[in-house]
Amino acid sequence: MGEVTYVSGRVLDARGEPLRNALVEIWQCDAHGVYLHTADTANRAKQDKQFQGFGRFLTGTGGEYLFRTIKPVPYVPRTPHIHYKVRRGGQELLTTQLYIQGHPGNAGDGVWKGLKTDADRDAVTKPFVALPGAKAGELAVKFDLVLGVTPEA
Ligand SMILES: [Fe+2]
Repeated sequence: MGEVTYVSGRVLDARGEPLRNALVEIWQCDAHGVYLHTADTANRAKQDKQFQGFGRFLTGTGGEYLFRTIKPVPYVPRTPHIHYKVRRGGQELLTTQLYIQGHPGNAGDGVWKGLKTDADRDAVTKPFVALPGAKAGELAVKFDLVLGVTPEA
């Protein structure tokens, strides 16, 4: 269930160079706001059993990643978001969240508001747009993951 969304972008190091062999992981709640997590027991009855809730992608030389997922939905008390973690060679490089540009819940979200500057918020808040030529109303969003470090090759 949910609005099918293609989430893609590149992993870039601190010099702006694409990073290969970066493991990009995402996780999010399903269309009913339920996480696939042992701690989310209260909502288990509402869970969408068809939704994987988690994805993993290993980047190639261009640093690109791509996931087919759903447009995130709100759950109390959060505005919609997709969680991200980037690792390489067992090292954690980045943990972040992707938000929907223009979503009315953003301004009231403690985590989103807690980002230090407008530029910080802009860096993680992206437009979800209609995928060109999509017949079933699929969406697409571009989100580049820019690291604060340049890991060793
Ligand atoms: Fe979350």
